Amino acid sequence: MLVSARSFAEYRAMFALTDRDLTGRVLDCPGGAAGFVAEAGRRGVDAVAVDPEYAGERGLLGVRALREVRHKHADLVRDAARYLWSWYGDPGRYTRMRIGAARSFAADLAARPERYVAGSLPRLPFPDRSFDLVLSSHLLFSYGARLDEDFHLAALLELARVARREVRLFPVVQHTTDLRYAPLERLRGVLAERGVPSRLDRVRYAFQPGGDEVLVLCCTDHRAPAGAPERGGDPRAGVVDPVRWRHREGDTGPDGEGGHISSSSMNGVPWWK
Ligand SMILES: C[S@@+](CC[C@H](N)C(=O)[O-])C[C@H]1O[C@@H](n2cnc3c(N)ncnc32)[C@H](O)[C@@H]1O
Repeated sequence: MLVSARSFAEYRAMFALTDRDLTGRVLDCPGGAAGFVAEAGRRGVDAVAVDPEYAGERGLLGVRALREVRHKHADLVRDAARYLWSWYGDPGRYTRMRIGAARSFAADLAARPERYVAGSLPRLPFPDRSFDLVLSSHLLFSYGARLDEDFHLAALLELARVARREVRLFPVVQHTTDLRYAPLERLRGVLAERGVPSRLDRVRYAFQPGGDEVLVLCCTDHRAPAGAPERGGDPRAGVVDPVRWRHREGDTGPDGEGGHISSSSMNGVPWWK
């Protein structure tokens, strides 16, 4: 799977983000080599990225992403007619944006490594309701040909578990076919039954034909089912979860529920035991 490097500007457009959306804690899952967390940090936004690739050779991720951007540029020029250019203008601007994002990611990863947490869906190393807003681009639905429906449901519920307000997912079309992920409506039905209503919003950003909708999961009334284990940090990831750390410092957040950590996880008992 590509470790792509979308920019803060692309995230803003794909997820129709306003300044107000970025006032709370934000999770980017999967972060890949995107420049979102880096630029968000410069703007004073409390953002964290999670991706399985952060567990490996982290230092090489930026270089890998830059190689992929350069490789993709040749494809873009060759297949330009396959894409919509209203937002980017032309392949050169697309590529410059991605190169800037990959460099920004690499610099931020070196400067603020704790902002890049190793973890994989469908189990994230964060306590319930850790983030006000969760963003997820180009994994679920995009890779629908590879990731089955059960994985999608488990991953969506997991993203909703760690969100206090909303999860936004973009796009809802598969990257191989440009067709909407077929089980989407069925999944939305199951989510609604589990207390996570959703809506599809059209956005101004478009690149892939048909890919101009963001799925928004409304998590304000959602609670993990009674008896579900509290997940407070995954030692397998080998990193300290900065958000959990702040919770432990007693930052309770705007609705006073920031400390959604059970006494067991406060004592360091891993969630899977
Ligand atoms: C196409 S990239 C998207 C990265 C970023 N969101 C962007 O738009 O630039 C897909 C990412 O999904 C990550 N990934 C793969 N399997 C995953 C999983 N089970 N849970 C979370 N992330 C995963 C990959 O490591 C890769 O970085």
